[in-house]
Amino acid sequence: MSDGPIAVFDSGVGGLTVVRALLAAIPGERIVYFGDTARVPYGTRSKETIRRYALEDARFLLRFEPKLIVAACNTVSSTALDYLEENVDVPVVGVIEAGAMAAAKASETGRIGIIGTEATVDSRAYERAIQRIRPDAKVIAKACPLFVPMVEEGRVEGDVAELVAREYLGGLAPIGVDTLVLGCTHYPVLKGVIRKVTGDAVGIVDSADETANAVKRLLEEEGIAAGEGRGGIEFFASDNPGRFRHLAVLFLGATTCSVTLVEPEDFFGGGA
Ligand code: DGL
Repeated sequence: MSDGPIAVFDSGVGGLTVVRALLAAIPGERIVYFGDTARVPYGTRSKETIRRYALEDARFLLRFEPKLIVAACNTVSSTALDYLEENVDVPVVGVIEAGAMAAAKASETGRIGIIGTEATVDSRAYERAIQRIRPDAKVIAKACPLFVPMVEEGRVEGDVAELVAREYLGGLAPIGVDTLVLGCTHYPVLKGVIRKVTGDAVGIVDSADETANAVKRLLEEEGIAAGEGRGGIEFFASDNPGRFRHLAVLFLGATTCSVTLVEPEDFFGGGA
């Protein structure tokens, strides 16, 4: 079991923020990443569609016999994690619990802001997870749909990025949050501009980092961590590997990576 890779998937390239955090936390692990670039974005879709896509993604990854699957997508984690757990027979880790836990611990006032896609915000998954840990917490969530295309266009700083961030984050001002959760894979790339708008008094929780730490703990607790020197990473995408490679530089900080295109017959319908 400890020989299997860690399988990671996302609706597209965004989950690479989680991969970056995993590479830092557990460099000895082998990672297989699948980005569903043919069907991104998930964040504007219905719960039923998100669940179906998520299960197809996970089933594609099962052929690598992973010891663990990481749903490195807030939209999937908030909407389909229970469904995946019911239908897949390896442990599935999402990104919500770890981010919620970190926010609940970090906040002094209990006033916590969440930003994410429409589906993540509508699911209220972060609110529920935070209030389970800290029932007194007052949570306010705001969908920021322009952030995903902005990041993918490379608009991560400058006047446009700041204007959009001010507009969205202004919605959190009424309750005066002291902690803000970046509840979408793309948002860590905008951390600089978000920080500029919130100021230093607001603590920022990056669910990617928190998830990587949770995966590390789980591997240790279960005794399934890989031995030294087995690391490595393989990328698969359901469309346009060239664009994936281009964006990987932004998300992963890598200079280059090789990406294999997954043909529809290998993927849609699950292959399991
Ligand atoms: N990966 C998604 C998330 O974290 C963002 C992109 C999308 O909408 O598919 O919610």
